[in-house]
Amino acid sequence: MSTGLSTAVVRRRSSLQSLWRLGSYVRPYAGQMVLMTVAAGVAVGASLLVPLVIRSIVDGPIRHGERSGLLPLGLLALLLGVLEAGLVFVRRWVQSYAALGMETAVRDDLYAHLQRLPVAFHDEWQTGQLLSRATTDLSTVRRFLSFGLVYLVVNVATFVTVVALLVHLYAPLALFVAASAVPLFFISRNLSRAYLRTSRQVQDLQGDLATFIEESAVGVRVIRSFGRRQHVGTSFRRGARTLHDAAVGKATLVARFWSLFDLVPSLTLGGVLLFGSVAVSREAMTLGELVAFVTLMLMLVWPVDSLGWILANGQEAMTAADRIYEVFDTEPAVVDRPGAVALASTNGWLRLEKVGFSYPGSSRPVLHDIDLEVRPGETLALVGGTGSGKTTLTALVPRLYDVTAGRITLDGHDIRDLQLSSLRSLIATAFEDATLFSSSVRDNVTLGRADATDAEVAEALQIAQATFVHDLPWGLETRIGEQGLSLSGGQRQRLALARAVLGRPGVLVLDDPLSALDVHTESLVEEALRRVLSRTTALLVVHRPSTVALADRVALLEHGTIAAVGTHSELMETVPAYRAVLSQQAEEMTAG
Ligand SMILES: Nc1ncnc2c1ncn2[C@@H]1O[C@H](COP(=O)(O)OP(=O)(O)O)[C@@H](O)[C@H]1O
Ligand SMILES: [Mg+2]
Repeated sequence: MSTGLSTAVVRRRSSLQSLWRLGSYVRPYAGQMVLMTVAAGVAVGASLLVPLVIRSIVDGPIRHGERSGLLPLGLLALLLGVLEAGLVFVRRWVQSYAALGMETAVRDDLYAHLQRLPVAFHDEWQTGQLLSRATTDLSTVRRFLSFGLVYLVVNVATFVTVVALLVHLYAPLALFVAASAVPLFFISRNLSRAYLRTSRQVQDLQGDLATFIEESAVGVRVIRSFGRRQHVGTSFRRGARTLHDAAVGKATLVARFWSLFDLVPSLTLGGVLLFGSVAVSREAMTLGELVAFVTLMLMLVWPVDSLGWILANGQEAMTAADRIYEVFDTEPAVVDRPGAVALASTNGWLRLEKVGFSYPGSSRPVLHDIDLEVRPGETLALVGGTGSGKTTLTALVPRLYDVTAGRITLDGHDIRDLQLSSLRSLIATAFEDATLFSSSVRDNVTLGRADATDAEVAEALQIAQATFVHDLPWGLETRIGEQGLSLSGGQRQRLALARAVLGRPGVLVLDDPLSALDVHTESLVEEALRRVLSRTTALLVVHRPSTVALADRVALLEHGTIAAVGTHSELMETVPAYRAVLSQQAEEMTAG
């Protein structure tokens, strides 16, 4: 997939290279990998000795009718069986430990990387895509690196050893058996590929259907009120039918798979028994050798079958590794410059100089030639029609995106020369869509300031008029989104506001924080905001004429640039466009 990000560099690599790079996560477990391979190898070796013991039993005690030699040989076979079982246990145990440790390490790195990536990356990648990369793809790679690689080595070694033993027992028949492995291998590889493809398809269809059910459940009121029940029902049945057909197709494939798998070894076995009996009657081999030969030969079936599987899985793992590295190779675009300085505090003097901005991948500038100054302690309101670029402008100040022309300064420093962590602790933001996380109210409010004291949290809640949280069943410890707690839009926005004002930031950037408040709460929050704004510098996007009164000055954003700046009353008198925007928005409010 091409992400087309101009702010990010996406390097494509060949699949094998991606898998090789993921191998760096295997290296800490090199000891365990060796232990696993040795354990698996010795276990297989033990199991291969059993047929040779059987040969000795058949050709010795059984043939000559001597009971006495039976016991030690029987005990030896038993011992070999126990040894094999013990080693399988050790291998599985080590394998789970190493595989899960590795998967966790990759997932941690992937998550950390996602956190560093620019907002633009998340604009362009669907959340589902990222989720499947962090879960399904990663499991595929883990399976191959831990299980597949070990068995690739062990099965090839087993194959070679068994064929050597067969040659040792009776060479002509051994060549016949070795040749029969070729069709078996190709059948296994082709069917494994087809199987993986249909499995993936069934998985995708299941996901689609689950999403459909979820959306219908969430949107049940809309569906009913628009009389779309029939239509939705039909779509659902169609989706369910497709899933059914795909699942049946998969089952048919599995049936074909197993019958072919059984057929080739059975034919080979028939041939071996036929030619083997002839060889025994001509005394070219003993009866015990024939028994050992057949037992050993049957031990070849699994390594050959699984080799096809492993190679098909290996191919899957390479694709998965590619997809994982597509994420890893996306470089964060907004990073600290070399020599970036930390600013301990700010006077709150914010300037935009000839600022221009266009979204990554688009040549049309959303903002251009913006000159704007917010003086220390001042509150500047930003007014403009829908789509004029207000939200975009507020996102430039905390560097969610970097300007594409001009510069923004804080206390005279270009904000790109400041350390990101320092910039973002001096500037607090609240956006239109008040995002809250499934965590406690306290965690949500102290998101940017984990060290805030109870008194500070209480003050922030007071200022944002979010004291309703004290009446929640578990107060500040109530978990949002769980425990039956769903907050209204206004409540969510007041919490987001409390989060922004916590710890008295030097500059406050608020994107229409009052949009979802009812008229009664609005006046309460306005009163509280007035207090906050009196002690800090603020850039405030406002919709409602009433909120404009909170600002010292107002800037009108039109066609991507600042059309006018002045006090509310100045603009009302001299700028008709300003009057138009405000009255239009007042209308939208009353209509909404
Ligand atoms: N993530 C984005 N990628 C590309 N274009 C965007 C993105 N967000 C907003 N835009 C475009 O930028 C313009 C300004 O949007 P926005 O800043 O949200 O305006 P406002 O907040 O004033 O309504 C719109 O034309 C919008 O389509
Ligand atoms: Mg907006």
